[in-house]
Amino acid sequence: MAAAVAIIVIFFLSAMAVSVAAAVVEHTFVVSQVNMTHLCKETLVTVVNGQLPGPAIEITEGDSVAVLLVNKSPYNITIHWHGVKQWLNCWADGVPMVTQRPILPNHNFTYMFNVIGHEGTLWWHAHVPFLRATLHGALIIRPRHGASSYPFPKPHREVPIIIGDWWELDLPQVGWNMKHGSFDFFASGSTINGKLGDLFNCSGVAEDNYVLDVEPGKTYLLRVINAGLFSEFYLKIAGHKFTVVAADAHYVSPYTTDVIAIAPGETVDALVVANAPPGRFYMVALPNQAPLPDTQTPEYTTRGMVQYSRNHSRSGANGAAALMSTHGAKEEEEEEGPSGDVAVAPEMPGHHDTITSFYFHSNLTSLHHPLVPQRVDEHLFIVLGLGSVCKHGRQSCKRGDKNETIVVATMNNISFQHPVATTPLLEAHYYHTGGRNAMEELPDQPPRVFNFTDLDLIPFGPKEMQLEPSSKATMVRRFRHGAVVDMVFQSTAMLQGDSNPMHLHGHDMFLLAEGLGNYDAAKDMTRFNLVNPPVKNTVLVPNLGWAAIRFVANNPGVWFMHCHYEFHLAMGMATVFIVEDGTTADTSLPPPPVDFPTCFGNCDNVLPYELRLENMKGEHNSI
Ligand SMILES: *[C@@H]1O[C@H](CO)[C@@H](O)[C@H](O)[C@H]1NC(C)=O
Ligand SMILES: *[C@@H]1O[C@H](CO)[C@@H](O)[C@H](O)[C@H]1NC(C)=O
Ligand SMILES: *[C@@H]1O[C@H](CO)[C@@H](O)[C@H](O)[C@H]1NC(C)=O
Ligand SMILES: *[C@@H]1O[C@H](CO)[C@@H](O)[C@H](O)[C@H]1NC(C)=O
Ligand SMILES: *[C@@H]1O[C@H](CO)[C@@H](O)[C@H](O)[C@H]1NC(C)=O
Ligand SMILES: *[C@@H]1O[C@H](CO)[C@@H](O)[C@H](O)[C@H]1NC(C)=O
Ligand SMILES: *[C@@H]1O[C@H](CO)[C@@H](O)[C@H](O)[C@H]1NC(C)=O
Ligand SMILES: *[C@@H]1O[C@H](CO)[C@@H](O)[C@H](O)[C@H]1NC(C)=O
Ligand SMILES: *[C@@H]1O[C@H](CO)[C@@H](O)[C@H](O)[C@H]1NC(C)=O
Repeated sequence: MAAAVAIIVIFFLSAMAVSVAAAVVEHTFVVSQVNMTHLCKETLVTVVNGQLPGPAIEITEGDSVAVLLVNKSPYNITIHWHGVKQWLNCWADGVPMVTQRPILPNHNFTYMFNVIGHEGTLWWHAHVPFLRATLHGALIIRPRHGASSYPFPKPHREVPIIIGDWWELDLPQVGWNMKHGSFDFFASGSTINGKLGDLFNCSGVAEDNYVLDVEPGKTYLLRVINAGLFSEFYLKIAGHKFTVVAADAHYVSPYTTDVIAIAPGETVDALVVANAPPGRFYMVALPNQAPLPDTQTPEYTTRGMVQYSRNHSRSGANGAAALMSTHGAKEEEEEEGPSGDVAVAPEMPGHHDTITSFYFHSNLTSLHHPLVPQRVDEHLFIVLGLGSVCKHGRQSCKRGDKNETIVVATMNNISFQHPVATTPLLEAHYYHTGGRNAMEELPDQPPRVFNFTDLDLIPFGPKEMQLEPSSKATMVRRFRHGAVVDMVFQSTAMLQGDSNPMHLHGHDMFLLAEGLGNYDAAKDMTRFNLVNPPVKNTVLVPNLGWAAIRFVANNPGVWFMHCHYEFHLAMGMATVFIVEDGTTADTSLPPPPVDFPTCFGNCDNVLPYELRLENMKGEHNSI
């Protein structure tokens, strides 16, 4: 009897092994320029496979992904797989001159990586200044054992909701300008799944709305991604609530809310039940920004539509009116539809409301209790600020003179200088070739403690040019393999009232606590959630506040860590974490893939890559 059971068990296990065998999911991404017309203007945009947003990659946890990138654009391109750990595979992380040489025009490269330990939504985007506005798409990871193993009822449909910007400017040029201290460049609109929506029009013709058709009573899983360059968004659907079930491809304790707050780089999975009286309901994405005296930038609200299917018999003359009386919400009827019904618009938070975002983020906890290490090896306190540097690398200059100084964003008073040598940092690290980058160590503490969130420090208008001197360097911080690192990010009033979505490559972070005002270790450490903190790749540091995270530096390689606001990144709010190899082969970074992009004759290093590889082998042999 026992033997029979064992045989059945073995049979069952092997059948499972077959059914869950990891697949290789292949895609070809052709990057090219196409003309798109919005707001009565034809704009040349750089996209993947002619689409905006780009193609979604849909996989099962444990699968491998192979994406052949064919670059038919005039730009150097890399693609970053945002949130993918790239375990022992830093080579595929896609940061130009940090992990790889960019893929030149008319060249191609195949990214290969496994996706392990994530379920939910991640995304991919170009890691070229500003081009990610049009080069991005969803990366959807389903559970290994099928949709029945979701920790929530299987949804009827799963729908990516990508919030983005519409730019009518030459994006690489905008990136260059921001890096060189001129900031007056803005998008022309916001989008949901590439559509600007009917709040935008020109010559009296409204832009198309993104439309989600729903059937009454069914549940929809929205996979929300903020691919925007500049803004945190609030997302609401009139007459409906969300149940948030995952963030950054980790499950969270189900959290019911009528508003989702999402910063650039973040993802949120949320269930929506179509349980309103059938009708049409606006889905609105509203960007927020800090109030005056923060410099106000033009930011645009966009909206799509949730529309109940027409073949459902309708009770009463006006479903929307019925909804308003049942929900009692202060919602407005708007826009008469073809059959005389009206679409309902949600009441949105104010666009200067930043506290709703703070509450939303503070309310997230992990569904499963992750293993949070209790012993901490390193403590970093990182102050996110603004400063000025002299133009043309000069040592001294007249502060406050636009012609002499550039405003830069800093971490502990240093602004990141993107590597200028032609050997990427990862290659230099792996082959111990040094390289020509002037590297500097990221300090563990700011050089000076002050009242970081003092509103009087807000450099309004011309005061910005008079900011204190900072320096620029290719900043790195080395970590011993396996080090447990606590890091507190402190926002400052120098950044006006901005929040800061900080994104770490190659590692997830436990978000232990966040708060407003200045971090106070004695008081705030006692609030650390070591039981069920959310696990994130992008942590939103609240406006004039702080966020405390912990991570284990156990993935060897050279990893970018930066603010996911594109203008903060262009201004230098970034650093590089170098995680050393462990003592064994399976804790050490393997060599690069054979077709890794080489320097195509543009290197200032004398030897081509293959030859240096040969030399390295020689050196090893001679040791
Ligand atoms: C885009 O439109 C411009 C002007 O209409 C045209 O010259 C150009 O060839 C078009 N480019 C592409 C890639 O279609
Ligand atoms: C593209 O990269 C190559 C090699 O790193 C570099 O020489 C070239 O200037 C870059 N082109 C642009 C447009 O950035
Ligand atoms: C990719 O590049 C290789 C080498 O340059 C070339 O042989 C191949 O045809 C290219 N593939 C595509 C799809 O462009
Ligand atoms: C066009 O947009 C403007 C500004 O948002 C708005 O005032 C106007 O009513 C819109 N017109 C139409 C026809 O939608
Ligand atoms: C309408 O009813 C048909 C038949 O029951 C069904 O297939 C379809 O999905 C329903 N919804 C819409 C939007 O047509
Ligand atoms: C959760 O959100 C509610 C409001 O929606 C807020 O009152 C509460 O303080 C939040 N919880 C935390 C821990 O911030
Ligand atoms: C900066 O340069 C511009 C043009 O070169 C000049 O017109 C302007 O007067 C200069 N400003 C200052 C403060 O020197
Ligand atoms: C820091 O600045 C804030 C805002 O201006 C103020 O409320 C607070 O009292 C200041 N703290 C200290 C210690 O001076
Ligand atoms: C930043 O460093 C510079 C020297 O490079 C120093 O003059 C300045 O006071 C420092 N600022 C802060 C906020 O620490």
